[in-house]
Amino acid sequence: MSRIPLPYNPKVLELFRNPKNLGKMDDATVVAVAGNPMCGDMITFYLKINDQEVIQKASFESYGCAANIATSSIVTEMIKNSKLEDAWKLSWKSVAEAVGGLPSVKFHCGILAVGALKRAIRKYYKKKNVSPRWMKEEMSFEEKQALEEEELAKVLSKRMKPEE
Ligand code: FES
Repeated sequence: MSRIPLPYNPKVLELFRNPKNLGKMDDATVVAVAGNPMCGDMITFYLKINDQEVIQKASFESYGCAANIATSSIVTEMIKNSKLEDAWKLSWKSVAEAVGGLPSVKFHCGILAVGALKRAIRKYYKKKNVSPRWMKEEMSFEEKQALEEEELAKVLSKRMKPEE
């Protein structure tokens, strides 16, 4: 059976083939993961943040698909030298637009990338025990979706385990 390739635009394919900022960061200030290893869709975001709350460096590792790698890569480019407050305002839609659009079945891949970023920002403030006024206590859309996917993957992996 032959598989029909997804209609990725050239920008997604280019970022997938030559992703920017791919790899672990040893001196990261904060690291956050989104996704679930059980289903293979997993991203780690690394941020290096200075005392002025500016992201000096961002990198990622991804075991997701082309859309996930492309969106994660562009997120790291978009937030470089940004204040955390501005990076927080990034939405998965603006990221999808920045890669020239995504096939609808691949929206979740971009959502997961932004979810990982927002988790990293939240984690940074949690570690400092600070709550900036612009960050609501309630999870953002992308964080909620990432959590939902993880919960779903857990349920599915339990169901697939043979009876003990
Ligand atoms: Fe799951 Fe893209 S990250 S299909």
